[in-house]
Amino acid sequence: MLFRELNRGKCKTYLIACEETRRAALVDPLKEKLERYIAMLAYHGLRLEAVIDTHTHADHRTASFDLRELVGASAIMHRRAPAPHIDRHVDDGDTIAVGNVPLRVLATPGHTPDGISLVCPGCVLTGDTLMIRGTGRSDFAGGDPGAQYDAIFGKLFRLPDETLVFPAHDYRGNTSSTIGDEKRSNPRLAGRSREAYMDLMNNLGLPLPDKIQECLQPNETALEDDRLRFPTLAELNKVRQRAPREVQTDLGSAAAPLVLDVREPDEFDGELGHIPGAVLIPLQDLPGRAAEIEIHKERPVVVVCRAGVRSTTAAAILTGLGFEHVSNLKGGMLDWCDQGLGVERRPHEDG
Ligand SMILES: [Fe+2]
Repeated sequence: MLFRELNRGKCKTYLIACEETRRAALVDPLKEKLERYIAMLAYHGLRLEAVIDTHTHADHRTASFDLRELVGASAIMHRRAPAPHIDRHVDDGDTIAVGNVPLRVLATPGHTPDGISLVCPGCVLTGDTLMIRGTGRSDFAGGDPGAQYDAIFGKLFRLPDETLVFPAHDYRGNTSSTIGDEKRSNPRLAGRSREAYMDLMNNLGLPLPDKIQECLQPNETALEDDRLRFPTLAELNKVRQRAPREVQTDLGSAAAPLVLDVREPDEFDGELGHIPGAVLIPLQDLPGRAAEIEIHKERPVVVVCRAGVRSTTAAAILTGLGFEHVSNLKGGMLDWCDQGLGVERRPHEDG
């Protein structure tokens, strides 16, 4: 296995390659370094098969969507990842093969709901779940310090003590650690109960990173900001969130809402299906096509996507366009399907 960190900065990108087959994967690539990665792969005669984001990043733009387009690598993320154009959704226990190198996926949420760690031969990539002498903050939307504690103690700390730890970030210039070191010396974790950890994480009082929405929304939507004017955080926070069961009840009532699905067409007819009667307008087309649903301006509209993240952006855009009763399906089609609510799938044309 060929293994190296490519950025030598605070954000870490890892190259994992199989020396026998010359197949490679990049983990957490940065958009600003796209050209450098492509040149490096060519220089080493490596074929990029997979681009893996350990979670939806809030502090930098991912290069995964560009690498997918430019070199045909498969984009891989956890099934809870909100973005479109993910070729493979993985979950706990799955294996990603990079040539003859197996990467075992651990679902390690807490920093975000879609956090994964990758167990490689001799080391583990821990994303922003476990960092060297620290842990990733859990106060962003969808963060959960209890889940993070469980992922660290229940999964990462069960790996052999000598396993090397490679996080997605390091702000203090650390370059290496092991699971054993972190068990003994991580000040947020060593000797701390689950309750004490939650208390600590809920009271860190960290400021939001600069430009969080400028990074987060493009990563969540796979859209460039020249395609869409992304809503502000204040506009997003105003969007009314509704639970799947409430929406289901409303759909059976006399004042049934319009269901607007803003995913891509392949997702609309994909494994999760769509809510019967839903109208499809992909997020990127919404500003140009909102006139098509203009007649519903005074009617309740429920916006839907995969994880409820892109649809929150869409709901804020519609509210800005004068739609009066817009709400968002919380947790998207993932939660809708997990709760066993009805979906429709177009019959596939076989043969
Ligand atoms: Fe992060």
